[in-house]
Amino acid sequence: MPTLDELADRFRDFGAISTRTRAPLYTRLAAGIAEDRDLLGLLQHAPPTQQQPVLLLAAVHFLLLRGDDTSLAAHYPNLSPPGAAEGDPVALFRSFALAREELLLQVLTTRNTQTNEVGRCAQFLPAFGMLAREVGALAHIDVGTSAGLNLLLPRFEYEYTPGSSVRPVHPSPVLLRCGVRGDARVPVPATMPGVARSVGLDQSPIDVLDDDEVRWLEACVWPDQADRFARLVGAIGMAREHPPEVHRGDAVDDLAALVDRVRPDGHPVVTNSWVLNYLPDDVRLRYVAELDRLGSEHDLSWVIAESPAATPGLPVPTSDPPEEITVISLVRWRGGTRSVQRLATTHPHGYWVQWEA
Ligand SMILES: C[S@@+](CC[C@H](N)C(=O)[O-])C[C@H]1O[C@@H](n2cnc3c(N)ncnc32)[C@H](O)[C@@H]1O
Repeated sequence: MPTLDELADRFRDFGAISTRTRAPLYTRLAAGIAEDRDLLGLLQHAPPTQQQPVLLLAAVHFLLLRGDDTSLAAHYPNLSPPGAAEGDPVALFRSFALAREELLLQVLTTRNTQTNEVGRCAQFLPAFGMLAREVGALAHIDVGTSAGLNLLLPRFEYEYTPGSSVRPVHPSPVLLRCGVRGDARVPVPATMPGVARSVGLDQSPIDVLDDDEVRWLEACVWPDQADRFARLVGAIGMAREHPPEVHRGDAVDDLAALVDRVRPDGHPVVTNSWVLNYLPDDVRLRYVAELDRLGSEHDLSWVIAESPAATPGLPVPTSDPPEEITVISLVRWRGGTRSVQRLATTHPHGYWVQWEA
C-alpha cells in the first residue's frame, strides 16, 4: 500500500499534468491535497491499484453532481458560471470531503475511473466515410464500448476546422468540433455514412438508464474541461432516448458472435478506442488473431484508435508518437487478404486530427 508521502507525490505529479493540460482547478486542488494528510488518508481506503489522484477527485465530483453543495460547486467550471466562486477551493474541498467521509469511502472502495469519450467519433467518421463509399451500408461493432455512446456516431453533428461539417439526419444536441492540423486534407464525408446497425461489447458496460452509473461517468471528466463535460451530458441524454444496443462480454471470446449477428445488416466495421491498452499483451495478440480469423472467412474492416506506445502487437505502422497520442489505423480484410493503412494522428479526446494517409 502506498504511504501518505507516496500519495502526496502522486498528487504533485498529477498537478504537473493538470498544469500542462490547462486545468487550473485540478492543479490548485492537487497542490492542496498533496499537503493535506487527512485528504490523502481517504485515498488509502481505495484498493491499492486504484489509489490515484483522479479517483479522489472524481469521487468528490460525483458527490457534488448530486447537487447538495453550492459553495464548492461554484469553483467547478462545468457546474457554475464564471465569477460565481468565492473563497479558497482547497479549504472548501477539504470541508466538503471530510464532512461526507462515509459516503466518499463508499465511492472510493467500489468504483474505478471510467470513460466514454464521444469526441472520438470525430476520429472515426472519416474512416467510416471511406468505408461507406467502398462497401455501402455499414454495421458498427464497438468493442470496449463503455456506455455505448460512440454507437451514436451517425446521430452527432461534426465540424472540422478548417474543413467542412457533417450533419446527421435529425438535428443533434451534440456538436463535435475537431481542429485539423497539418497540410493534408481530412477526407470528411459530404454526407453522414450509412450505418445500418450499431452494437457495443464491453466486459462491464455502463447502463445509461442508471442514474448513479451515469453520474460516475460524468464525475470522471475533469471539471476544467467544461465543453467535454457538456457533450458527454448531451450524448447521455441522446442515449437515454435511443438506448444503444450494448452486450456484456469479452473482446476476444464474444466478438465472433456479435460480428455474425450484424453481418446481415451491413459490412461489419469493428472499432476500439483506448481499450486495447487495458488488455494484457497475450490477450491483445489473441484479439488481433481473432480479427484475422474472422477476416479470413468474410470481408471485415477494423478501425483502431489507440496509442501505439501503449498497445504493442497491433498491426499499426508506427512513428513512435508519445504515449498519450492516438493513432487511427484502418485494417481491411477483402477476399481473405489483409491490408493495413495508417490514417491519422489525433488528440486522445478527438479535439484535433492530423491526416496522414
Ligand atoms: C477507457 S474505456 C474506453 C471506452 C470507449 N471505447 C471510449 O473510447 O470512450 C475502456 C473500456 O474497455 C472495456 N474493456 C476492458 N477490457 C475489456 C475486455 N477484455 N473485453 C471487453 N471490454 C473490455 C472496459 O470495461 C471499459 O469500458
